[in-house]
This record gives sequence, C-alpha cells and structure tokens, in this order.
Amino acid sequence: MKRLVIVGATGMVGGHALRYALEHPSVDRVISIGRKNLGISHPKLKEVLHSNFADCSALAAVLSGQDTAVFCLGTYTGAMPDAEFRKITVDYTIEFARVLHYRLLRAIYPVFRLLFPNFVIRSDDLARAMIDVTVRGTQERGGVIFENRDIRTIVKLQAGVS
Ligand SMILES: NC(=O)c1ccc[n+]([C@@H]2O[C@H](COP(=O)([O-])OP(=O)(O)OC[C@H]3O[C@@H](n4cnc5c(N)ncnc54)[C@H](OP(=O)(O)O)[C@@H]3O)[C@@H](O)[C@H]2O)c1
Repeated sequence: MKRLVIVGATGMVGGHALRYALEHPSVDRVISIGRKNLGISHPKLKEVLHSNFADCSALAAVLSGQDTAVFCLGTYTGAMPDAEFRKITVDYTIEFARVLHYRLLRAIYPVFRLLFPNFVIRSDDLARAMIDVTVRGTQERGGVIFENRDIRTIVKLQAGVS
C-alpha cells in the first residue's frame, strides 16, 4: 500500500491525479497539498493548505514517511509575465523537491546504507573521526580530505586502539 502526496490537486491535471489515486486499490493514503481547499472529503484523503511555495520548509513534517509525490502545480506560457511563469513552474518545483528529497532519503536510509555503504556515514562515526583527526593531526591519518570510506577506516582503527 502506498502513501501518496499530490500537489496542485485543485487544477485539471492534479484533479485527475487525485481521482485516480483515491480509486487506486494500492493507495491507502493521499495527502493533497495546495493553497485552496478541494471541497471534497474521502476516507483516504487528508488536505494540507500551503500558500507560499517559494518556501516549502514548513511541509517537511507532512512529507515525512510518504512514499512518493506527484507535483501538478503549474501554469501556462503566456498566462503571465515570463519571470512569474519561471517562478511557478521552475522555482516552486525545485523548492518542493528540495524538501521532499531529504524526507524520502531518510525513509530509505537503512536500505541505502546496506546497498551503498560508501555513500553514507553515521553521525557518531563522523563525530568520532573528526575528534580523532583533530587529536592526532591529519598527517597521521594520511591526508586532509576524508571520504566516507576513510572515515570508516579511522573509526575501525580507533576502535582497535581504545
Ligand atoms: N492540462 C493539460 O492537458 C496539460 C498538459 C501538459 C502539461 N500541463 C502542465 O501541467 C501543469 C498543470 O496544468 P493544469 O491544466 O492542471 O493547470 P491548472 O488547472 O491551471 O492547475 C494549476 C494548479 O497549480 C496551482 N497553482 C498555480 N499557481 C500557483 C501558485 N502561485 N501557488 C500555488 N499554487 C498554484 C493551482 O492552484 P489554485 O487552484 O490554488 O490556483 C492548481 O492547483 C501546468 O504546468 C501545465 O502547463 C498541462
């Protein structure tokens, strides 16, 4: 069962997306995010009002634990000046993606860590390595730039010493 977010469900595309999602047997929860109420209720539907898409930071908590998002907020060429068009279609999309992407990564972090151990580092390992390098000096640990695999090596060495 999927938990889905739809942005811009008051619009034509978003409205269709909302109907399909609510009817879909594999979707058990839909969060609609927009600046106006939809004016409908449904057992699977939760509405979140958000007026300023230039800053989506306030949506971080709402986006936590969701599986995916469908972004249908937008406008049409010629409907407004170019700068406004760009703001709505490009800047708002990037800002929403910025907030969503960290939320989603957090949800899949355990799997990500298992599959790509060198792409991630635990906060306590990072902190341990920073202290170790500060105390011993960077030369003893072989350089001034430490990638995740180097940090992991430092943590292992340090664990062997103490
Ligand atoms: N319709 C099509 O066949 C089609 C085909 C290809 C591509 N597209 C693209 O898909 C996107 C959506 O099309 P659509 O036909 O669904 O458009 P629409 O009916 O005009 O809906 C636009 C949606 O974006 C929201 N929105 C617009 N400006 C906003 C702003 N400044 N702040 C917050 N929300 C805002 C609207 O919210 P409010 O209700 O609050 O105004 C509405 O939910 C557009 O970028 C369009 O170019 C559409």
